[in-house]
Amino acid sequence: MESVRNRTVLASGFHAPALGEAERLDDILIRVGRDGVIADVVRPGDGPYAAALEGAREDGTLVDLPNGTFILPGFVDLHIHAPQYPQLGNALDVPLEVWLQKYTFPIEARYADTAFARRAYALLVDDLIGCGTTTAVYYGTIHDEANRLLADICIEKGQRALIGKVAMDEPSNCPDYYRDKSVAEAVAGTSGLIEHIRNHPDNREKRVLPVVTPRFIPSCTDDLLSELGSLAAAHDCHVQTHCSESDWEHAFVRERHAMSDTESLDRFGLLRAGSVLAHGVFLSASDMERIRLREAAVAHCPLSNAYFGGAVFPLRAALAKGVRVGLGTDISGGPAPAMFDAMRDAVMASRMLESGVDPAAAPVERSKNAGARIDFREAFHLATAGGGAALGLPIGVFAPGYHFDAVLIDPSAPLGMLRLWPDLHEGDQALQKIVYTASRPNITGVWVGGETISQIQP
Ligand code: GUN
Ligand code: ZN
Repeated sequence: MESVRNRTVLASGFHAPALGEAERLDDILIRVGRDGVIADVVRPGDGPYAAALEGAREDGTLVDLPNGTFILPGFVDLHIHAPQYPQLGNALDVPLEVWLQKYTFPIEARYADTAFARRAYALLVDDLIGCGTTTAVYYGTIHDEANRLLADICIEKGQRALIGKVAMDEPSNCPDYYRDKSVAEAVAGTSGLIEHIRNHPDNREKRVLPVVTPRFIPSCTDDLLSELGSLAAAHDCHVQTHCSESDWEHAFVRERHAMSDTESLDRFGLLRAGSVLAHGVFLSASDMERIRLREAAVAHCPLSNAYFGGAVFPLRAALAKGVRVGLGTDISGGPAPAMFDAMRDAVMASRMLESGVDPAAAPVERSKNAGARIDFREAFHLATAGGGAALGLPIGVFAPGYHFDAVLIDPSAPLGMLRLWPDLHEGDQALQKIVYTASRPNITGVWVGGETISQIQP
């Protein structure tokens, strides 16, 4: 499959620009510019359609995607710990604060070994691209060389990515063998990575961006949090961290700072437009309002919340308040790397929140959250347009001005789990089937900025 830069793509599929509405796109023409940005989208009912189709055919710029395939916006994973990929599917038997010390800091410490980092990061980026993640928001480690390597690998493989050096200097919560030795060291590592990414000769289109990354309040000193807030402002940079993730973490911050995570991050200047707060399970209404006002966002990671959260993120309440929300896998706190799983898990978590979980209670008492559920359309929106809006990037929608980041779904891929019965799958029911049953072999093409970065030949 060729690059579609400076081409017109004839395709069918879906996108979900607005929450709750999935638009079926039949035989649309998407004209992609030389820069990989969508110049226009023409639908069969539109006046210029016939001329645009004929013109592209005549000048040899038409890319006619195979009949029966579906094009979707590429998926945006707002929360990934890149170094934790080797332990995906292991080590989920203990609470967060034990998991970090017992399993996670030891695996992350191994990225001092650059050869290990290269192997693990190349595998991760390939696997995520294969699963349709066109934009990935990554935590690295404390190691400058391994962080630069992760950026180089994303640039080389063409994945859109935000990459941060994990900053963590608080001796009481970070072990000697895996800790920034000083505020100055953590700040130097962070600004060094910002420079490496922004000045990278092969990153001229800014497909890879830096992100200031205090791990979370418990692992950082106040001095470091304050320096990182200033650095984010000085460099006009995205921020990512964890916020109100678990009972332990939420209570820890209250105890240390006598305020909520959200309030505390805000006073350090870490709540900015494009800040991504992972989890937010215990956000209060006023925390949500603050996040909305700052134009920051929540990365909802439903599977990880099941292991570490101790409760379900009130997604519907956050959306109703106008908070920007996208989805995250939280590799490896969430042991599933594909955004298909994040969508399915988001629906399931919302259903359980709505129904309640105590079978001994009568239905009216069991359910304390009427209206909490989301459906496949909303999950799909969050995984695409929602993620794009959270980051303030023009991705996740097929519309003029947006990057052509897309996946091609082939229901006839023999090894895939998607089996469509055309008479059963009219309207957006085909999308429902894709969201709930498609698997990696069904993703036969992946584009970022109009360039093919993965392809499975039929
Ligand atoms: N809180 C601080 N660090 C981590 C991490 O690596 N994973 C998760 N899920 N939560 C965290
Ligand atoms: Zn995390």
